[in-house]
Amino acid sequence: MAENGPILVTGAAGQLGAVGRTVTGLLLERGLPVRAMVRREDDRAAALRAAGAEVVVGDLLEPGDVYRVVSGCRRVYFGMSVSAGYLEATVTMAAAAREVGVNALANMSQMTVSEMSIRNTTPSRQQRQHWLGEQALAWSGLPVVTIRPTMFLESFFQLAAPTVRARARIEVPFGRGKTSPVAAADVARVVAAVLADPGPHLGRIYELTGPRSQDMHAVAREFSDALDREVTYADIPAEDWERGLRKAGLPEHLLGHLMTMAELHRAGRYDRMADGVERVTGRPAMSVREFVSLHADEFGGRRT
Ligand SMILES: NC(=O)c1ccc[n+]([C@@H]2O[C@H](COP(=O)([O-])OP(=O)(O)OC[C@H]3O[C@@H](n4cnc5c(N)ncnc54)[C@H](OP(=O)(O)O)[C@@H]3O)[C@@H](O)[C@H]2O)c1
Repeated sequence: MAENGPILVTGAAGQLGAVGRTVTGLLLERGLPVRAMVRREDDRAAALRAAGAEVVVGDLLEPGDVYRVVSGCRRVYFGMSVSAGYLEATVTMAAAAREVGVNALANMSQMTVSEMSIRNTTPSRQQRQHWLGEQALAWSGLPVVTIRPTMFLESFFQLAAPTVRARARIEVPFGRGKTSPVAAADVARVVAAVLADPGPHLGRIYELTGPRSQDMHAVAREFSDALDREVTYADIPAEDWERGLRKAGLPEHLLGHLMTMAELHRAGRYDRMADGVERVTGRPAMSVREFVSLHADEFGGRRT
């Protein structure tokens, strides 16, 4: 392992939460060398290169690629899209990181894992793979920091934005369950702080939520405040939501994960509060209102 080698950031092109892309930018801002791993050469890769990252192309499911991109790196952020091969990629990364001998690995997981055990799991294959992945990393003996965010504001709002734009209504089957979504940008700030100075964080688990846990009617009120027009919440049947997601062409693995997430919301399992964002970064997590204000155009804009 190179003591002064770059920090590897996987999933750096970004797609949904784009944690990898934001982490890359934050580490470069701090003057740290970053090796940004992408799946293909495209505009996003060019933008990372222009920002100052060393861009490498590879597949996290190909052991040879993973060993090549980890070689020479001293620290790693590991995260990739919600997908069926997640556990295989995690264990492949663990094997490569052991071989190379990295001195810190920040692993993206999910907050639901905090409530899981071998006797108490969920139907989501993604959550099961995160739980197993965390186990495997613990067995690996690697210097790991575990990042467990609740639902990202970005992914939640991607699901809600079309109906907020079309009829000023958030339509999701979350019942009366409370939720505390966290901005992926805040998650990235935590990861960047950890990777900039991993020593105090090694072995820790950071649970990350937004600043408030509230039901969807209260979330809709934060939307109304941010957009200066009324937005309401409609608790739609889970089957209708599933039909819509299926029509949108979501892969089966992601669909199953989202349906579990909705079910857990209805059961009150997303009613969580954690102070990881403020504890690690010294700044409070972004609220729903702040997030919607920043992204007002995506929700049909503010009342003029
Ligand atoms: N969304 C949520 O609400 C939420 C909440 C808690 C935790 N998480 C966790 O956050 C992670 C996702 O983070 P994110 O939203 O920041 O990710 P993201 O924006 O979706 O980016 C993931 C990147 O991974 C790349 N990728 C996918 N498969 C790959 C492969 N086989 N080899 C190399 N690269 C690959 C994708 O490349 P392309 O763009 O080229 O496809 C993409 O750029 C997951 O672990 C998820 O469980 C998400």
